[in-house]
Amino acid sequence: MFDSDKIFPPNPEFAKNARIKSMDEYYALMDEAKNDYEGFWKKYADEKIEWIEPYEKVLDETNAPFYKWFTNGKLNVTIQCIDRHLKDKADKTAIIFEGDRGDVQKITYETLAKEVNRFANLLKNRFDIKKGDRVVLYMPMIPQAVYAMLACARIGAIHSIVFGGFSAEALRDRIKDAKAKLVITADGAYRKSKPYLLKPVVDDALKDGIQSVEAVLVVKRNNEKIDWIEGRDHDYDELIKESSSECEPEIMDSEDPLFLLYTSGSTGKPKGVQHSQAGYILWAQMTMEWVFDIKEGDVYWCTADIGWITGHTYIVYGPLAAGTTTVLFEGVPTYPDAGRAWKMVQEHKITQFYTAPTAIRVLHKMGEDEPKKYDLSSLKVLGTVGEPIDPPAWMWYHEEVGGGRCAVVDTWWQTETGGHMISPLPGATPIKPSCATFALPGIMAEVIDKDGNPKEIGETGLLCITKPWPSMIRTIWGDHERFKKAYFSDAVKDGKAVYFSGDGAMVDKDGYITITGRVDDVINVSGHRLGTAEIEAAVAEDDKVAEVAVVGRPHPIKGESIFVFLVLKEGAVTEDIKSHINSLLSKEIGNIAKADDIVAVPGLPKTRSGKIMRRILRSIAKGEEIKQDISTLEDPSIVANIQEAVKQAV
Ligand code: WTA
Repeated sequence: MFDSDKIFPPNPEFAKNARIKSMDEYYALMDEAKNDYEGFWKKYADEKIEWIEPYEKVLDETNAPFYKWFTNGKLNVTIQCIDRHLKDKADKTAIIFEGDRGDVQKITYETLAKEVNRFANLLKNRFDIKKGDRVVLYMPMIPQAVYAMLACARIGAIHSIVFGGFSAEALRDRIKDAKAKLVITADGAYRKSKPYLLKPVVDDALKDGIQSVEAVLVVKRNNEKIDWIEGRDHDYDELIKESSSECEPEIMDSEDPLFLLYTSGSTGKPKGVQHSQAGYILWAQMTMEWVFDIKEGDVYWCTADIGWITGHTYIVYGPLAAGTTTVLFEGVPTYPDAGRAWKMVQEHKITQFYTAPTAIRVLHKMGEDEPKKYDLSSLKVLGTVGEPIDPPAWMWYHEEVGGGRCAVVDTWWQTETGGHMISPLPGATPIKPSCATFALPGIMAEVIDKDGNPKEIGETGLLCITKPWPSMIRTIWGDHERFKKAYFSDAVKDGKAVYFSGDGAMVDKDGYITITGRVDDVINVSGHRLGTAEIEAAVAEDDKVAEVAVVGRPHPIKGESIFVFLVLKEGAVTEDIKSHINSLLSKEIGNIAKADDIVAVPGLPKTRSGKIMRRILRSIAKGEEIKQDISTLEDPSIVANIQEAVKQAV
């Protein structure tokens, strides 16, 4: 049986050579940061970053919360990720690409340099992409996606990757918001040995024309038949042949934007989270070293998609800045069978494996005994990210995949934080399962109330980061006010607005931090962030719908699933209405936003001022007893009626 109080100390053999070897070392680093915050960061910025010109000030707080780090420093992130490794690692494998069908390609740092430069020259010379221009990537998991990201960074263009599972509508909104000049895509790729297509989605997104977009660059992966618009569409494979493999890096300021990545918030349309150059790359590299304990000779695999922040920081920027070998996988870990991932670990001798709890639950369910069939002895550190991991999944991961000897690091962070914030250190932290444990050295994470008072032990509060950190979000693209409102308006400490994550958390008697989940209206489906507001707006497009409210409901595999409460203008909910709503969700957002439950109810629980009490709906969706006070509702009797409707339907 699982004992929730059990603590898993670090493996002593591993700890001996780890970069941070004990809690004493951890506390010493934390003290250093607390005593001299800027000095702490200066030390690492000086030691780790290959500056073209030195910075002047570590942290500029004059325009808070628009913090600036390493002001007036000059660098190029691709020097950090590629050029500086060419001195002694030119022949080292930078990327191991494994295709869905098992095709493997090993790309050395030298080849990576050439491919990125060729791509950069193509962007510059053929498409006139300049520093500060936005380029949208709608790409599968193939090496050219990485080349494209780094090519943008090489010439100072700002990439904005849109996850390949998003619909044409979602893609269009993101292209428009960023005013992108170029869209880079592929004909498609392979999933479960079958070709699928991406280019038609781009065609659809651009069908009415988007003024800013001048061209579409298409990489061929599966050579399926696609439409071609002469003059707009360009063939990467043809053009790249003529492109030179030498390209001088653009000189970038520390605070120039590196990329945008759209993510869901609790209100309105997705926000373009803007990251910077120096602070971002510094923390991406430091967390690779501390949290994954990356060492020379390691082979590291993160299964995320590059369309999410985890793919940005922990497939591309972090691993390459750390000079390691990073695995890029086109397929799904359960195909052709539930042993695929473990077979890959065996074949590539993977040392660090990083995935989402939802994937662990699927692998556990489909192939409990699969890990035993493979030699997984290369593994040293296992990681999870994106959502809370439940104890049975944690235990299976630890025992069966990690053989009981690997630390499982449950990393808490967000698109906005750029890199890990709260996580065990594999050689130091005694781990409590399903617990993100402690803030990393230099990160001031606190569980407080809105006035900055620490919460009592075991009480849930707001998870805030009370000091700026180098890899933090700089702003929301084109909307500075929304940035302030979304992140710096919920909690104040010592008279200063502090960053609020949107998550709740609690601290136990030993100081361990456990994440309790979002306290805003964001749903986390299989580790994908979706805003209830976006989902509701899509559902409301059905003209039979009078009112709608959407909540998350706990789901054994996905973590949360989408539960839609509908008030219809007339009649009962039919299979037709349900399927229309799901087609709206997949059209407006993507298949990831499809609802598991769609239930018609006689009304929604509203306060007298008209606010929908989603907390009550969450309890009803879960089938829980309602403990909240419902006397403040406009019509308290509605609760029993909704419960009855749900009971009939589910
Ligand atoms: C959730 C993903 C519990 C959390 C890197 C956060 C987690 C949101 C964990 C960010 C974790 C992430 N334990 N919950 N270890 N990691 N989350 O922006 O609610 O896609 O706010 O970034 O995922 O999701 P995002």
